[in-house]
Amino acid sequence: MVGRLRDAILDGALRPEHPLPASRRLAAGLGVSRGVVVRAYEQLAGEGYLEGRGSGGTRVTVRSDGRGMASEGNQAASGMEQNATIDLTPGRPSGAPFRDRDWRAAWRMAVAEPVEVELPAALGTPALRTAVADHLAVSRGLTVSADDVVITAGTSDALQLIVAALRGQADPPRVLMEDPGYPTARRVLSAAGAAVDVLPVADDGLEAAQLAALDHRPDAVLVTPSHQYPLGGRMPVKERLALLAWAEANRVIILEDDYDSEFRHRRMPLPALASLPSSAEVVLVGTFSKSLSPWLRCGYLVVRGGSGQRLKNARLDLGTPVAGVMQSALSNYIAGGGLARHIARARREYAHRRTLLLDRLGGRADVKLTALDGGLHAVIRLQQNVPAERLAKEALGLGVRVVTLASYFAERTPENGLVIGYGAPTDLQLARALDIIAGLLDRMAGGPP
Ligand SMILES: Cc1ncc(COP(=O)(O)O)c(C=O)c1O
Repeated sequence: MVGRLRDAILDGALRPEHPLPASRRLAAGLGVSRGVVVRAYEQLAGEGYLEGRGSGGTRVTVRSDGRGMASEGNQAASGMEQNATIDLTPGRPSGAPFRDRDWRAAWRMAVAEPVEVELPAALGTPALRTAVADHLAVSRGLTVSADDVVITAGTSDALQLIVAALRGQADPPRVLMEDPGYPTARRVLSAAGAAVDVLPVADDGLEAAQLAALDHRPDAVLVTPSHQYPLGGRMPVKERLALLAWAEANRVIILEDDYDSEFRHRRMPLPALASLPSSAEVVLVGTFSKSLSPWLRCGYLVVRGGSGQRLKNARLDLGTPVAGVMQSALSNYIAGGGLARHIARARREYAHRRTLLLDRLGGRADVKLTALDGGLHAVIRLQQNVPAERLAKEALGLGVRVVTLASYFAERTPENGLVIGYGAPTDLQLARALDIIAGLLDRMAGGPP
């Protein structure tokens, strides 16, 4: 069914703006279940052929020459779309929640509530803290109570809060990070007043032997055990247990950046450090930036023990940075099942794009594709005769923005490669961008591999 609809669009039988029948009606006409039609519409929307317009129905968005068009459907707008840069910067999820019925219903309920005359509770509204705890139980197998959850304005805000809390014990607090790692975290931690040290890591992240050899004790260590950022490996269970034992023995707080574990494509996520039996203090740093959008500026911490109380005290002193109406809408969305449905949909979309990457670049002998087990990005390791910096520059000249792997390294000699975010572009845009990259690889290496 997906293939037949796609062909009809590409043949011009279904033209831009053509309204598709409601899923229930089409399903009845074809004698299939409504779910089959809904999934086909979703897949084609993910590929950029269709667009759901809520009560305006589902419409075709692509011309028969395969080019996308702006929703307004006028010539000028479609010209702009053709020339627009395809942005493969990592960290950008699919924008779908903003077009989804659950999302709009959650906001309608939130704005119908009376506007309070008080500040929202500093640790987060009880409804959102409960919704996050329930979500973590289902999506991460974590048993936490609403009391363990602190609502934040995303990871950057959480890191500032953590530094503020640590300053009560050490000034400046020392935070150890992985290299390569999340450059924003390095920047935010330093700007908040922490002394940041880095340890070189391979694809699966920090190893216990490195920690044992440290000549100083950090106050906290920031790790990405579910999906090393950006290299994409996952910390093996043996290393997780060793990290917990080291942290417990040395009284180091573990900051577990669990930014995209909802999206696993091949292997199941390993249990969070925060769920393993240990007396080490683990703070789970969660965000809605990948599961929904960074536009929301909303995330959460799971805090327990002494460090948890210190973090709560710091938040009580500083107050919440997240608007009450935002917290209301998000708790409605999660409690109504919207987030779980969105994640299931987005997971299918991302899994499909990952296959596209494998189709277009996986067979080449001159690149190595990694970090594909989960998440919304992949790493392309390049041969030395194709410098990533030059490839990125030439790609931008041809309308494709990519980020070099080097930009994630703090001290270690950077590797030659690119980090490709495949969350935000449509399948059509991604395919076009990958074809441009493949063409550049052929040209820069002096011919097809
Ligand atoms: C490793 C990592 N952690 C966390 C985040 C989310 O940050 P925030 O919640 O501040 O948007 C990102 C976003 O790109 C990330 O790459």
